[in-house]
Amino acid sequence: VKVRVLGSAAGGGVPQWNCGCENCREARRGTGVVRPRTQESLAISADGAAWFLLNVSPEIRAQIESFPPLTPREPRHSPIAGLVLTNGDLDHCLGLLSLRESHPLTVYATESVRAGFTAGNVLYRTLERFEGQVTWRTLAVEREQPLGDSGLLTITAIATPGNLPLHLKSLRAPSPEDNIGLVVRDARSGKRLAYFSGVAGPSPALARAVAEADAVFFDGTFWTSDELIALGLGTRRAEEMSHWPLGGPEGSAAFLARQRGRKILIHINNTNPILREGSAERRALEAAGIEVAADGLELAL
Ligand code: MLT
Ligand code: MN
Ligand code: ZN
Repeated sequence: VKVRVLGSAAGGGVPQWNCGCENCREARRGTGVVRPRTQESLAISADGAAWFLLNVSPEIRAQIESFPPLTPREPRHSPIAGLVLTNGDLDHCLGLLSLRESHPLTVYATESVRAGFTAGNVLYRTLERFEGQVTWRTLAVEREQPLGDSGLLTITAIATPGNLPLHLKSLRAPSPEDNIGLVVRDARSGKRLAYFSGVAGPSPALARAVAEADAVFFDGTFWTSDELIALGLGTRRAEEMSHWPLGGPEGSAAFLARQRGRKILIHINNTNPILREGSAERRALEAAGIEVAADGLELAL
């Protein structure tokens, strides 16, 4: 399976429009010390012809144009064969509404994420302009199912510690299907790609999926639990925002360092010191064999 990182930042991106933190200012200076990043999304393909996007960011239009294999081959066409949502957070779904130019879409999501996006959402009507504009394919947790029709890829949803999106909290009861990770298996190579971009903390199912993966993209949102508080930029701890911090003996970096496959951090918040080339935190990751995704990173499994 071929993989291209379309976006590697958490919601807001790097720099974030209303943020003047050290990292965002450095990104605007254009020195390369902190590279600008768009919001998290991955493109994957078994054959280089049909592509699937894992999460659909608000920056989808520019992300498609940044990668020629995702652009049309005919006057009306898209190589994008399907879109997969891991939760209902706006940085993961808002881009769907930007794909509204009367093109049929296939969207893979759990029933909870589908309902959270469609129910009572008057803007969703823009994707109901004609019969069959959106075909939903239901992801059931722990069930391997085909991704696309070629038989080349399968996908398995893994229930992952997380949360309802902010705009749905208190509106509905939480479910294990609100937040998932993905395991994509290439039928020909037998290789497994794990994708866990939102992880509130450890779990046995997560540990199993990551241990079996040849490469994992993992939640790199925050280095410390009080990152936003210490910078005076927010009041909530990482765990309250359902993100497992990287640093410290109980951090996710220590967990990842023990895994055999390639480990790549994604969904990185603009405040995170790992964004700064040469920082102590970045060097600690490098020493542990953990990579920091940047937009445009490619790999093949
Ligand atoms: C998150 O990753 O915690 C969410 O994207 C936050 C948000 O929706 O602003
Ligand atoms: Mn997010
Ligand atoms: Zn910032």
